[in-house]
Amino acid sequence: MNDALTPPAELVSPADAPKVVPFTVAHRGLSAHAPENTLSAVRAAHQAGCSWVELDVQLLGDGTPVIWHDNGVRRCSDSRGKLAKLDLKRAQSLDVGRWFSSEFAGERMATLEDMLRLINELDMGLNLELKVNRGRDAQALVAAALPMTLAALPSERLVVSSFSLSALASARAHEPDPDRLRLGLLFEKIPRDWLQEARRFKAYSLHVDWRKLKESRAREVKAAGYRLFCYTANDPVAFSRQWDWGVDAVISDDPTLYEHHLPGAVPPQSDETPT
Ligand code: G3P
Ligand code: MG
Repeated sequence: MNDALTPPAELVSPADAPKVVPFTVAHRGLSAHAPENTLSAVRAAHQAGCSWVELDVQLLGDGTPVIWHDNGVRRCSDSRGKLAKLDLKRAQSLDVGRWFSSEFAGERMATLEDMLRLINELDMGLNLELKVNRGRDAQALVAAALPMTLAALPSERLVVSSFSLSALASARAHEPDPDRLRLGLLFEKIPRDWLQEARRFKAYSLHVDWRKLKESRAREVKAAGYRLFCYTANDPVAFSRQWDWGVDAVISDDPTLYEHHLPGAVPPQSDETPT
């Protein structure tokens, strides 16, 4: 396609687009300091001053949506095997905190329902990634996870993203209104036909691996009126030029690192400088 530089007619011009204050999103919760994708990781993010978290959702074998990243449970629990083989009782018998640190021993796998309740209690924003691992059913995931998520959170505190085109299509079919459901297209590298895809899904945002983002592409995305999120960036100094390209949000394992490195942030005072 050759229309990547032409803003879609249905979108506002960049001059009219509401100004977005660049912000940070805690990746899998505050995963640098707590076991990823757990209630503790979200509480830790909140305590650290983060207002948004990114979390992955998948289905257990019995159809319960849970907050989990991998196909299996080996890396982040005291057991092994595939998530799809577990029912809720078995899944919640696992310890999903001790692998990270003894401080989190006894942590239980969070259901999406429990997590949505916590996000609401803490008044946080959620970037929910529909995680479709190999062999899993995107439509079943959307059917189980999306209605309860939309019922729990207002549109301004929710962005639903996925690498899976089937999950995105299914989500958009479930909720056709782009103002009610903000959809994020996840890419490692933004493809040449990104605008066609963004239009097809009535996308809100593009989410890209920050190391694979080129300035020209970033500026195209912003000129077309879409939000641009970068994952997973944990070096605020290396990331500084991406803000100049118009990036709206950085997804980081530790957003506190960005305290003095967001555009417009107050630089550290001299008495905060390590000696
Ligand atoms: O949503 C951004 C990021 O979470 C995508 O990669 O593997 O960490 O889920 P992953
Ligand atoms: Mg994710």
